[in-house]
Amino acid sequence: MDPLIYSVLHVAAAFVLVGMTFSAFANPAPERRGFVMMVGGIASLVMVIAGFGLHAKLGIDGFPGWLIVKVVAWLALSAVSGIAFRKPTMIGLLAVISMVAVVAAVYCVYFKPF
Ligand code: HEM
Repeated sequence: MDPLIYSVLHVAAAFVLVGMTFSAFANPAPERRGFVMMVGGIASLVMVIAGFGLHAKLGIDGFPGWLIVKVVAWLALSAVSGIAFRKPTMIGLLAVISMVAVVAAVYCVYFKPF
């Protein structure tokens, strides 16, 4: 499959995951939990599969540091909405963690500093 397809899936899923995450922060009502966790979970899965698909298709050698940063960012983004529903008092901190994760992941993919 064309790596561009993986790229589109990867970035589109990232947008959906981040959108769902911040919608959980904006309104962590218990009745929205199922929807947000389901859509966010599917986006997270598509994102990681497409990300490793890209890794293989682009022939990236081994597991460079910038990719480790992205995996950590993905783990953080995948975890925070679940925490927001259980502990809404932590939303301020979770929002900061999410923003740092997005900036770090995007910075690392374009600059590949290590
Ligand atoms: C398990 C987690 C992840 C893996 C394995 C992964 C893997 C990859 C790979 C291999 C590339 C291609 C790099 C290149 O063109 O040299 C890529 C591109 C990209 N990734 Fe990820 N990534 C992950 C998480 C994230 C996260 C958390 C974000 C942002 C929230 C993100 C955003 C992007 C963007 C914007 C691109 C550039 C797409 C393009 O220019 O075509 N990724 N990713």
